[in-house]
Amino acid sequence: MDQLQKKIDLLDKDRIPVHVAMIMDGNGRWAKKQGFNRSDGHAEGVSTVHRVTQMSSDLGVKYLTLYAFSTENWNRPTDEVATLMYLIGWAIERELPELLRNNVRIHLLGDIERIPEEPRQRLFYARDATAHCTGLQLNMCLSYSSRWEITEAARRLARRAAAGELDPENISEEMLADNLTTAGIPDPDLLIRTGGEERISNYLLWQIAYSELYFTPVLWPDFTNEEYVDAILDYQNRERRFGKTSEQVQNNE
Ligand code: IPE
Ligand code: IPE
Ligand code: MG
Repeated sequence: MDQLQKKIDLLDKDRIPVHVAMIMDGNGRWAKKQGFNRSDGHAEGVSTVHRVTQMSSDLGVKYLTLYAFSTENWNRPTDEVATLMYLIGWAIERELPELLRNNVRIHLLGDIERIPEEPRQRLFYARDATAHCTGLQLNMCLSYSSRWEITEAARRLARRAAAGELDPENISEEMLADNLTTAGIPDPDLLIRTGGEERISNYLLWQIAYSELYFTPVLWPDFTNEEYVDAILDYQNRERRFGKTSEQVQNNE
């Protein structure tokens, strides 16, 4: 039996995280190490996206949320941004037949209107073509930042209050959550960041209030399915207390 299968067998199939979020970091450093351009690192990173999507489907993860391009990433050199935009459009088109075969539904989170016309149309096409799929939901965060979406949510609620449709006193946590791009999606159980940095970089700040965080030094293009299963095994060894005591959790109180 191969190493990957051995690890998969160690998983508790009843406690697979429902929602896994990932910060896909380390493409640039991976490329530099090989003496390539940063863009080659991004191209290689697409293979990892393919792998983790397949693995998530196979393991029965229901939601996989990937940080592909942040609001802050617009400040990168113009040619790197252009390559990333090109790659996003190219990859979604190439992957679409297999996504459909695997019953994967694409969902887009972020300020998608900022994405250039051509890749944006390809993203919309893939989203619409997979709208009927009932397997894994793949949330692609593009031109996304958490502060952006929380500000948008505040603006929307304020507009309704100003129009007299909403009493500010009645604004609840649920209402705020319902106005985020992740409305209707359960919070991530597990957040994985590759590339060695131990920071959140403006990602899902509201939604990860009680997520388990997993940081690995492995660069995104090198992130294997074995490492993914390691992260889930680590997650399964943690006790999620949500503010309660360990005794309460163990007694199912
Ligand atoms: C992550 O890899 C991909 C994006 C942010 C789009 P980086 O490009 O940030 O790689 P490093 O961190 O420079 O190695
Ligand atoms: C976070 O990676 C954003 C994505 C993975 C898309 P960065 O490489 O942009 O993060 P920082 O700026 O180093 O924190
Ligand atoms: Mg980085």
